[in-house]
Amino acid sequence: MNPSAKRLLNIEPFHVMDILARARAMEREGRSVIHMEIGEPDFPTAPAIVQAGIVALQTGHTHYTPALGLTELRAAIATNYPEQARPDASRVAVTPGASGALQLIFAALINPGDQVLMADPGYPCNRHFVSLFEGQPVAVPVDATTGYQLNANLVRQHWTKRTVAVLLASPSNPTGTIIPTKELDEIIRTVEARGGVLIVDEIYHGLVYAEEAMTALSYSQNLFVVNSFSKYYGMTGWRLGWLVAPISHMSAIDKLAQNIFLAASTPAQYAALTAFTPEVQRELAKRREIFRERRDYLLPALRELGFEIPLVPQGAFYLYADCSRFTQDSQAFALELLEKTGVAITPGLDFGSHRAAQHVRFSYANTLENLQEGVSRLRNFL
Ligand SMILES: Cc1ncc(COP(=O)(O)O)c(C=O)c1O
Repeated sequence: MNPSAKRLLNIEPFHVMDILARARAMEREGRSVIHMEIGEPDFPTAPAIVQAGIVALQTGHTHYTPALGLTELRAAIATNYPEQARPDASRVAVTPGASGALQLIFAALINPGDQVLMADPGYPCNRHFVSLFEGQPVAVPVDATTGYQLNANLVRQHWTKRTVAVLLASPSNPTGTIIPTKELDEIIRTVEARGGVLIVDEIYHGLVYAEEAMTALSYSQNLFVVNSFSKYYGMTGWRLGWLVAPISHMSAIDKLAQNIFLAASTPAQYAALTAFTPEVQRELAKRREIFRERRDYLLPALRELGFEIPLVPQGAFYLYADCSRFTQDSQAFALELLEKTGVAITPGLDFGSHRAAQHVRFSYANTLENLQEGVSRLRNFL
């Protein structure tokens, strides 16, 4: 007998992993690959954070912390929010990445059959998290007319008796677009009026190139906010994130965290205490400028090649491009591009089904030099 759960039928692997596996194999064969498929900063973790992690290990911080995280770190996270948005530290839970935070939130909110609205295209794991807890992810198709984001109208249109929550990500993965503050405020009121819960994934906050993105906590304290040390803080491999929840849900979150993962990594938590120091913040601000320069190079270069990117993405490190001028099968296009030129990109299929075969995602988490080389190979290929 080989038992396996039915829920696996609703959970897809990352299609980009096929690309990444092929890219790695090509590199082993000695071929040069330009990575524009990767969803993490190319910079190493800031030295001061690394050093704090080493000291934590050397001084014996190798035991469990409380399930909701180190008190000092919860306080530091809370204090880092602007004053008018600042939650009490008791509402902050430190988690194994934003991934851990999203799982705790969905575990705390979803009953079997409950619906959660989310944008398509969107971050692929979200629909799978909802399925994991036997809820029903409702992928709402979005396009450039709404900045590739949900808005209050779409929420009203897709709300049913079974809807319990709406999930937003601003800036978004894969589009890098942000939800304008007025729109965010209207979504909050719309969800509240229906007795639902709003979850806002702010993992790409910090990596915003226009004016600073406002946290949803500036508009309401009665929602869930997810964030992470992965992207802006450059700590993907340390597996550390957080959530802010209404106080009414904190004992549920605590109980779930105790059971599901006990606590986030202890040395990583001690290291992250250093992330908010002026020295590290200065370094991160410099890196943000580098990301902006890369975006400002890659966006016009891809448009010139014939990719359609209708909006200037304001954040994250992705460009979501309509490739229908070249193909109606973005997965085959990405594989052929890799095979023939060594340029790795992510097919739209990873982010949902709405016009996925006509889209690809370019990541600019790579050096300007490599991006230029990638564009030159793309030009020859096309
Ligand atoms: C929108 C979004 N949310 C959450 C995550 C998960 O990040 P982590 O678990 O590393 O914090 C990612 C990672 O790519 C993401 O793009």
